[in-house]
Amino acid sequence: MLESSNNMQDKIADIKNTYLKKIKQASSLKELDEHFLALFGKKGAVTKLPKEFSKLSKDQLQLVSPLFNGVKFELEKAISNKRLTIRETGYSLLERESLDLSSPVEIKKRQGALNPLTEFENHIVQVFSKLGFQQYDAPQIDTDINNFQVLNIPENHPARDLQDTFYIDSTNFGIEPGRILMRTHTSNSQIRIMTEYPAPVRFMNIGRCFRNESTDARHEHTFDQFELVYIDKGLSLANLLYLSEYFLKAVFGPEIKARLRPKYYPFVEPGAGVDGLCIFCSGKGCNICGGVGWLELGGAGMIHPNVLRAGGINPNEYSGIAWGCSPERMTMLKQGISDMRQLRNGDLRLFESLGSSVKV
Ligand code: DAH
Repeated sequence: MLESSNNMQDKIADIKNTYLKKIKQASSLKELDEHFLALFGKKGAVTKLPKEFSKLSKDQLQLVSPLFNGVKFELEKAISNKRLTIRETGYSLLERESLDLSSPVEIKKRQGALNPLTEFENHIVQVFSKLGFQQYDAPQIDTDINNFQVLNIPENHPARDLQDTFYIDSTNFGIEPGRILMRTHTSNSQIRIMTEYPAPVRFMNIGRCFRNESTDARHEHTFDQFELVYIDKGLSLANLLYLSEYFLKAVFGPEIKARLRPKYYPFVEPGAGVDGLCIFCSGKGCNICGGVGWLELGGAGMIHPNVLRAGGINPNEYSGIAWGCSPERMTMLKQGISDMRQLRNGDLRLFESLGSSVKV
């Protein structure tokens, strides 16, 4: 069936009006490109229309063709004109734009805070400084002798199983393998303190320790320890209990009580687990303290005569207290952190949520 030329003229007028309007309203080159494609692309309205011309008679075609060509030209022209206008507007905007490098810029404030572990450690250093304890810095890489042997843990002693660690390949320094290690505890400070300073002494040692552990919510291969070494004449378990209670009150508040429970550590005799009355249930028994009403918070004891002797101190003249705790465990209890790994994984969201009190 033949198409009427009126019909075709309408279609052409329709394309023209619709697109001239769109082109006029376009405000970006991207928009214009879209209109161009919609008209002149492979499936564009202008590209497709001539396919319908075969339905027209010759006379009709003579009428429609020039009209179509005219509209095609008009649309092309409208697009290229509008392109120029949009470009010009862009350039003039750029010309008007100015950059004053001397004008003040508002810098977003981002206030840092200390890691709660660092905060806790700073606090306990202060707490014991008040009792005359000085800080001692023992090395994190030490000999098997200082870390184990002089602490009454000879080679092949079963207590070594509790503290497997990482050994340094020392063959390059002419030292046979298995002699230099990453310290497993701050107790490596004990012998150094005794040999470097004459008794009586009061020292504290805080720092990194390492163990060959698989990590979980309560264990890390890299962790901190805090240790006191107190040597004087006539010290007894009473002094040890006092120190424990003094420490726990400073950390958890005046309500807490300390108790000593017999526990084996090779370098002390007697050795004690230092417990604090459970801060969550005040001793009633809850699921955090496992129903016992007490939480194990540290390890301590009277320094073993063998260790004193290894440090050149006469055990008949002096006695010593060694006292240690895990700053991580304390911080977790105090701040309600359930996974130890959060303390070192660098995720700031934890610290933000705690609203760490010390701002730096
Ligand atoms: N060094 C012990 C450990 O890593 C902790 C410890 C226990 C330290 C008893 C002490 C102590 O000073 O007396 O498990």
